[in-house]
Parts: sequence; C-alpha cells; structure tokens
Amino acid sequence: MSITSEAELQGMQKVSEAVALTLREMCAYARPGMSTKQLDDYGARILMDYGAKSAPYATYGFPGFTCISVNKEFCHGIPSDKTILQEGDLINIDVSAELNGFWADNGASFVLGPDLHGHQKLVDASKDILYKAIHNIKGGVRIADIGQMIETEAKKRGFRVIKNLTGHGTGRKLHEAPDEIANYRDPFNKERFRKNSVVAIETFISTDSTMAVTQSDGWTMLGNRGGYMAQHEHTIVVTDGKPVILTEKNGIWG
Ligand code: CO
Ligand code: CO
Repeated sequence: MSITSEAELQGMQKVSEAVALTLREMCAYARPGMSTKQLDDYGARILMDYGAKSAPYATYGFPGFTCISVNKEFCHGIPSDKTILQEGDLINIDVSAELNGFWADNGASFVLGPDLHGHQKLVDASKDILYKAIHNIKGGVRIADIGQMIETEAKKRGFRVIKNLTGHGTGRKLHEAPDEIANYRDPFNKERFRKNSVVAIETFISTDSTMAVTQSDGWTMLGNRGGYMAQHEHTIVVTDGKPVILTEKNGIWG
C-alpha cells in the first residue's frame, strides 16, 4: 500500500507493533524442552491480546498462528507438539497479522542458547545484511539493485541466497505489489521502490541451497541442497531518506 494519511500510518504502526512485540516475546520465551506448538500457543495469545488476527491462519489456512521452522526447515514450519526445541537449535519465527484492515509481517532467526553447532555466523550475516539492505532503500532505488547488494554481501561471507523466496509489498493485504523483492539481481525486474509505499524486506541467507522446496505436508520448506538458512524481516515505509522501520520493536538488531 501507499501511505496517504496520518490515519493509515497509525493503522500500520499499530499492527506492526503487534507483530513485532509478539515476535520479540516468542524469541525470549523459547526454551530447550519446549515444543513448537507451545511456543506458537504463546504467540497466538499475544496476538489475540492485541486484537490482531494471524495472517497465515486467517488467510492461508495454515495449521498454526505463526511459522516456526527448526534447523533444516527453512520456513513455513508447522508448530507441532512433536517438535521439541533443543539447545543450539537454529530457530526461525515468522509473525504476520491483520489488525483493523492493516497487515504487517516480520521474522527472525536465532540460535537457542549456546551456539553448539556454529549457526551464529549465518544468523549474524542475515541480520547485518537486512540492516544494510533497508538502509539503502529509498524512493527511486531499483529493487534489483537491493537484490544484488544482498547477494553480494552474502557471498562475501561465504553464503548463498535463496532465489525463490522474496520480500513483498504489504499493508492492505499480507502480500501485495511489488510481489518480488528478491535477494539477487533479477534482470527482468525494472521496478523501483516508491516513496510512501509499505514493503516487507526479508533476507534468505543459506549455507548450501539456492532454492526452497515445499515438503509433502504442503507447507514446510527445506533447501534443494540441504544445509541451513537464516531469515530476518522488517515491514518498512519507504521515504526520501532513511526508511521508517515499522516493526523496529522486534529488536532483531539488539
Ligand atoms: Co514476508
Ligand atoms: Co514473514
């Protein structure tokens, strides 16, 4: 969407705060021995307290309120009482919701407790690259240029990017135009970021894979060449200068 009034900005601020604080609380609540279903239930209650509706549950019929992906699962992991979190796990939580007709989206990867399996480097790369990408976005910047920047930064650190997962416009629906804010230079994408538009910017930084593949459960995505992936996501408003980071309260940059 494009923000045209103070009321629209406030609507976006409200839903963004709901998803940001839900994500932040869920990351802090995660403990070894807890199931991803318990963690999802906790997040669902926070969203409900805000009066917000889970986007994946309400819109896509996803069997959960948030997406929780553990270790080799890249994204869209289904909360389950059979998935028990362990120390050193690489966890991704993605929270998106609707409140009063406005939609916001954010996500974070983190290592649970001590970094027993050496995932922190991947997590830090994803966080840092998201920071750099967002701070290079303003009205008139080509979407493909940001994609190139993300891939270049990933390669510098010895990582790859996932090509079939992208950021997207958001605001009045979970996913709206621009449909694909890729993590690489898409030579066919001539589109530019527009001032006042609301977009969800997300990194998909991986150790081995370049594509995410949906599993037989219809949701969970794994890598085409295995390995691990880290994702961080913010919903922002594009301006002439530094973007307004609507989901800043998720605290992913510490
Ligand atoms: Co998104
Ligand atoms: Co998301």
